[in-house]
Amino acid sequence: MCGIVGYIGERQAAPILLEGLSKLEYRGYDSAGIAVFDDNKIEVAKAKGRLNVLAEKTNDGKTIHGTMGIGHTRWATHGEPSDENAHPHISMSGRFAVVHNGIIENYIALKKKLTDKGFEFISETDTEVIAHLFEYYYKGDIMDAMIRVINRVEGSYALGVLCSDYPDSFVAVRKSSPLIVGLGENENFVASDVTAILKHTRDIYYLEDNEMVVLKKDSVKVYNKDKEEVPKEKFTVDWDVSAAEKGGYEHFMMKEIEEQPKAIRDTISPRIKDGRIVLDDITLTTEDIKNINKIYIVACGSAYHVGVVGKYVIEKMCRIPVEVQVASEFRYCDPIIKKNDLVIVISQSGETADTLAALKEAKNHGARILSIVNVVGSAIANASDDVIYTWAGPEIAVATTKAYSTQLAVIYLIAAYMAEKLGMLTSGEYAKFISEIEALPDKVAEILKSKEELQFLASKFFNCRSIFFIGRNLDYAVSLEGSLKLKEISYIHSEAYAAGELKHGTISLIEDGTLVVALATGRELFDKTVSNVKEVKARGAVVMGVTTQAHENMEDVADYVVKIPEAHEMLLPSLTVIPLQLFGYYVASLKGCDIDKPRNLAKSVTVE
Ligand code: AGP
Repeated sequence: MCGIVGYIGERQAAPILLEGLSKLEYRGYDSAGIAVFDDNKIEVAKAKGRLNVLAEKTNDGKTIHGTMGIGHTRWATHGEPSDENAHPHISMSGRFAVVHNGIIENYIALKKKLTDKGFEFISETDTEVIAHLFEYYYKGDIMDAMIRVINRVEGSYALGVLCSDYPDSFVAVRKSSPLIVGLGENENFVASDVTAILKHTRDIYYLEDNEMVVLKKDSVKVYNKDKEEVPKEKFTVDWDVSAAEKGGYEHFMMKEIEEQPKAIRDTISPRIKDGRIVLDDITLTTEDIKNINKIYIVACGSAYHVGVVGKYVIEKMCRIPVEVQVASEFRYCDPIIKKNDLVIVISQSGETADTLAALKEAKNHGARILSIVNVVGSAIANASDDVIYTWAGPEIAVATTKAYSTQLAVIYLIAAYMAEKLGMLTSGEYAKFISEIEALPDKVAEILKSKEELQFLASKFFNCRSIFFIGRNLDYAVSLEGSLKLKEISYIHSEAYAAGELKHGTISLIEDGTLVVALATGRELFDKTVSNVKEVKARGAVVMGVTTQAHENMEDVADYVVKIPEAHEMLLPSLTVIPLQLFGYYVASLKGCDIDKPRNLAKSVTVE
């Protein structure tokens, strides 16, 4: 979704803004623009389409001078992608330029009010009301105007604002949309995320909701809504710049698939000490765990699919009831949350609007929130009682892979940690489970060695019109993810079904040549799934089975078989998902799809 970059310093701003915006492209966008303060006025350039259109228009920013500016990539919500609707938006007198990420929910009422007062609108966006509101409230002090604006607007926003009366500073603020401050030497930045400024600085401030920041080239001051200065703690990002670069790979997605062994290791290693799981990050006591009545897991998309795995694993290991819900439903279902219920929220970005709203809904009902988040200091992390970070590093491809895998790893740690505290595991079982978790990175690496096998299978099926994924229990949970991975990047219709449910309707869609990917890794339910494979084969399906090395008889029923290494039953999803990610990737690649930026999708879904 929308991305923001702001710069003030001694260098020409426009090329820095364009370069920063290019690092935010992965968030999804359909137009882009910059505003730079130059020669006592604000100069604006914007263009529909990819960033290179704007780059061409401005000769890579070289034609726009000035050392202070703001930039934006827009993912259209209010009004189609067009030059007029692209940000920055300018107030009527040209005094203010505004970039915005988020949604102003009361913009229609505000627009009417401003129109009645003589303001003219040239775009269809909600953001333009902010530019005019600044103008309306401005009485010579930009901070006073900003306070009045944010008191007036409802919704979510990260704002960057230039005012032509302030040649040496610009201001920014955020609420429920991400914005960080980058601290440089004689230059400072704001950005929607760290990747946009990593090339220039690793020192950052995370902003809380409604904190306003005034940036000069040699100072950064943060204020609350009472105009009191707020002391901020400086964080130093330890990512390597290369973490957010393609590094020779054709696509970020493949790079991130390959990074999974390291990402899983980085996530689990610091939390296993002397053969025990140590979750220093959380304040949940043994007493709290013993008192848990029920667990909700709430998330969207792939993170929700991790929750489905989590339900099976936590219920099996801890015997605590778990309900998994997609956040967009949970937030409006008036959830029945009782004392001692725990809500686990899962999100890579930590800024998904529905997940954040669901978290707030759960909190309003008195729930305790434990979140699993990848982006440090993100809104979801900030709003949670406890956070366990996944150490996946920056994930750029829209289709998640390494974030999914690290979220799974955290679910395993939580399940085993709680099971041990509840006395549900013998010391032997606990030790075995931990050593099996520790073995996961090497097993994932082993599967990645046979990429060509999946490339071959993709070459056989990339022309399919529809592909089904089936499995039971944990295999069903992974089917959901395999199906999503395929469809989101290859645009092939796909559905995931609990294998036993197929014959209650969906089996009528199976015809000669339909590909069914059958996951049958678990020991207990292997034969059951094999029966389902026979059912679809009898109706003409071609079957690709995915199973462990132990199950030799899969070859007897399936047309193609992909084997994964053996592992503890609960941990198999971490392995099963890898061939499915590769299959989706290669199918999309053979179809010539834009793998890292699939159509209509955004990496961070910051609108409802
Ligand atoms: C999956 O590949 C997608 N990118 C999507 O389903 C994603 O998992 C979902 O939007 C949730 O995002 P989050 O983890 O950042 O909250």
